[in-house]
Amino acid sequence: MTRSFSTAPLRPGLIDDLLDSARRGPSAGNTQATGFVVLDRPELVQAYWDTTLPEPKRSSFRWQSMLEAPALVLVTTTPDAYVDRYAESDKARPGLGDNIEGWPVPFWWVDAGAVVQNVLLLAVEAELGACLFGVFAHEAAVADRFDLADGERIVATIAIGEPLPDSPGRSAKRPRPPISSVIRRPVD
Ligand SMILES: Cc1cc2nc3c(=O)[nH]c(=O)nc-3n(C[C@H](O)[C@H](O)[C@H](O)COP(=O)(O)O)c2cc1C
Repeated sequence: MTRSFSTAPLRPGLIDDLLDSARRGPSAGNTQATGFVVLDRPELVQAYWDTTLPEPKRSSFRWQSMLEAPALVLVTTTPDAYVDRYAESDKARPGLGDNIEGWPVPFWWVDAGAVVQNVLLLAVEAELGACLFGVFAHEAAVADRFDLADGERIVATIAIGEPLPDSPGRSAKRPRPPISSVIRRPVD
């Protein structure tokens, strides 16, 4: 994650190209209900921070230069689209086409996570920095401010821009677990 950005605007078209590639991730039932709300004009970026980080919290925010990122991408998903898809004849299975509660693993978050990782990788490939962060309690306010559709959920926001040196986040102190504890092979 990059948490410090220059104010340099991105090349026109770059974000759209990047997101077009990023959406080609695995998608349950090929539902493809991950969406993007792109805030790449200064007044929209400002409106996002006004909604999610108003004063007095803004001034004491640890990563002031993260607020300089020229583009913010809201990654969204529409759970009901998955319910509708899994009600179709080739996918009909007990429960999944009835409501979101019937899903043991809610695949809309899985699909969106794959798309998010693609965005992060493509940003690095374009020699940019990116940071994924949560919307937390501000989801309803952000959805309202940027006209999301009914039932459209915000998965997270990704800041994208030219990276500047930054200090690592608190979570970076957490060690990467040994690979032997991550990969397991059950005995017979
Ligand atoms: C679902 C999710 C939510 C995250 N939310 C935040 C956040 O709110 N603020 C933040 O600074 N980083 C956030 N991160 C970034 C993680 O802190 C970061 O990926 C992790 O510490 C590993 O660091 P690295 O990605 O730089 O290797 C989030 C990451 C994920 C996957």
